Amino acid sequence: MEASAKPIAARLLRWYDASHRSLPWRSPPGAPPPDPYRVWLSEVMLQQTTVAAVIPYFAAFTARWPTVEALAAAPEADVLAAWAGLGYYARARNLIACARAVAARGGDFPETEAELRALPGLGAYTAAAVAAIAFGQRAAVVDANVERVVTRLYAIGTPLPAARAQIRAAVDTITPADRPGDFAQAMMDLGAGICTSRAPRCLLCPVAGACAARALGPEAYPVKPPKAVKPQRRGRAFWIERGGAVWLMRRADKGLLGAMRALPDDSWSARSDGSQAPPLEGPWRAAGQVKHSFTHFDLDLQLMLYSGSGWASLAGEAGEWWPLDRLEQAGLPSVFAKAARLAAADEELGEQR
Ligand code: ADE
Repeated sequence: MEASAKPIAARLLRWYDASHRSLPWRSPPGAPPPDPYRVWLSEVMLQQTTVAAVIPYFAAFTARWPTVEALAAAPEADVLAAWAGLGYYARARNLIACARAVAARGGDFPETEAELRALPGLGAYTAAAVAAIAFGQRAAVVDANVERVVTRLYAIGTPLPAARAQIRAAVDTITPADRPGDFAQAMMDLGAGICTSRAPRCLLCPVAGACAARALGPEAYPVKPPKAVKPQRRGRAFWIERGGAVWLMRRADKGLLGAMRALPDDSWSARSDGSQAPPLEGPWRAAGQVKHSFTHFDLDLQLMLYSGSGWASLAGEAGEWWPLDRLEQAGLPSVFAKAARLAAADEELGEQR
């Protein structure tokens, strides 16, 4: 592999110089690296999330909290609410923990991959990405786009995830000591725009000449294990309204959507056996279903509206009355935001009736 290492990086960087995406967290090719805080924040947001979805959140976060110290000083509830809609909420809790750890060491991020890896919530990917992009360190940066590019380049036929060690070693081999951050982002851009899952544009690819999968059919790579069928869960969420406000609670710190503001529900997130909670007693009315897909299961959530006149007691849960005209600012995760829209639509229908 060594013999082809230099040409691959050199060709890729030349292509990146001309064809890179300009993104708010990036420096132009060859320019001094961007602020490590912005690199770290963007890389955390970009895990499992598209560039298009991240751009407005990145703008909002950096406008409101321009430095890691500002983020570290923010109340956790504000950060979680600002994160609402991006998903994978453990990232937001780790984000706060990491910001506080960096602020505690004076506000400077450490520069090596190993030290970055020791910060809360920084996995192998983020540590390598920040080391390479923010500090110019040679590090093997491997995300799903890079996995696709490399399994094709070397026709790695081992299925994922078993292929990961081989992929990492291949990325390590081709990563240059000069401009490793641009190289990592060039691989990402190649994966996003040229070496796509379906219908890759090999005619435009700067490294097609070195690609082992080109003649074999690149779409067969990476080889994936058979897809598991997602289990289906069923649950109920409760809409309790009083005087222009709705009852919201804060979810438990740990677990799915942990520490997020939410509608009260029947604990569907704790029932992994497909069972349903017993039917509700009292003046409740079903307003419809919300469907939402999580990483490991699909959810059918029935929205129940409280139609009684007095206060419905829900197992003594702590919560707050949240004004409906400020519901946007509650920072509800997407599944509950969908339920809230259903409640609003039901109300409109009721007014028309
Ligand atoms: N995905 C993850 N990190 C990225 C980056 N720095 N640029 C573009 N896409 C990315």
